[in-house]
Amino acid sequence: MSSSDLGFIHRFIPSRSGQPAPTLLLLHSTGGDENQLLQLGSTLAPDAALLSPRGKVLEGSMPRFFRRLAEGVFDLEDLKARTHELASFVEAASTTYHFDPAGVVAVGYSNGANIAASALLLRPELLAAAVLFHPMVPLEPESTPTLTGRPVFIGAGQFDPMVARAETERLAALLEDAGADVTLHWRPGGHMLIPEEITAAQAWLSQRQIPATASRR
Ligand code: MLT
Repeated sequence: MSSSDLGFIHRFIPSRSGQPAPTLLLLHSTGGDENQLLQLGSTLAPDAALLSPRGKVLEGSMPRFFRRLAEGVFDLEDLKARTHELASFVEAASTTYHFDPAGVVAVGYSNGANIAASALLLRPELLAAAVLFHPMVPLEPESTPTLTGRPVFIGAGQFDPMVARAETERLAALLEDAGADVTLHWRPGGHMLIPEEITAAQAWLSQRQIPATASRR
């Protein structure tokens, strides 16, 4: 199903399983759209429902989830507002599509990983878990959120030209200080998303206890 309702152009694909399953919130990279991560979502969790919005900020013709002033320099007021707007979208979608908001797992790549990390820091109640591929530190929260035991997978490239090793480690530390259960997966390579880290994330996710919530049709 593709829709521009609920404030975001998006796709929602219900769980194929008759069993309770989580809902993956798929958050694309700069220049991607609501279709970019659907295959990735099905690979990561074949039984999950998929909710995939398109970022509403345009950089040229490239959709993003929030404005940036330069590479790696974010418009923080826009980021905060867009994070809350995304959270409201997820809550509204849970009513429209009948999935339990307690079972939402964010899966983001690059710009999408950054808004997912922002959601963890600003709206800690929103996500049951998160898979962040090549995130930066999106912002420093004013107060430390409570993310006790929240599983977070960070996929990072040792030679990523956009994300320095120290920045990845700072994000992991920020989330750990908030109580999150962080798995930092390094691989040799850059910013590109490669099959090896998808396999690692898939294995990681399959071992996590995500509240299993039915997506009812
Ligand atoms: C991107 O191109 O998406 C950046 O590396 C990350 C961002 O701007 O959020």
